[in-house]
Amino acid sequence: MTPHRPVFLELWRIQLPVPGVVSILHRISGVMMVVAIPLFAWLFAQALASPEGFAASAAFLGNPLVQLGLLVLAWALLHHLIAGIRYLLIDLGLGVDLPTARRSAWTSLIAALVLTVLVAGGMLL
Ligand code: HEM
Repeated sequence: MTPHRPVFLELWRIQLPVPGVVSILHRISGVMMVVAIPLFAWLFAQALASPEGFAASAAFLGNPLVQLGLLVLAWALLHHLIAGIRYLLIDLGLGVDLPTARRSAWTSLIAALVLTVLVAGGMLL
């Protein structure tokens, strides 16, 4: 590897094609879920420890800001699931040509957003 590789760090001027956007969001959503695991483990342990702990966990989860965070995590799971299945299909050689790859990238992006809106609707009921 050459020690003087060109570096372009103006991230806002890099115009990723939509498969690139889906790819970076897949990575970000995976990391978001991993980071959330200790929080859920702690909440679960607290809820099981005592009736007061259960009430505290329920109150925490009832906070609107926390619910907004849960909705973002729901998006992360949905995007990661749908884009992940897309990658597994691509790994099998399906939909590798550029037009199909672009269409499936748009489909993954929009499907995850639509399903997240449905989850938000379910949370409001
Ligand atoms: C729900 C079903 C899931 C599917 C279908 C799925 C699929 C995938 C696939 C195919 C990859 C490799 C992507 C690549 O080739 O670059 C991947 C990476 C990854 N997944 Fe999942 N995954 C799922 C659930 C999860 C969950 C629940 C978590 C976290 C708790 C997670 C965390 C990650 C992380 C951190 C990576 C590495 C991301 C990167 O650095 O590019 N995944 N997943």
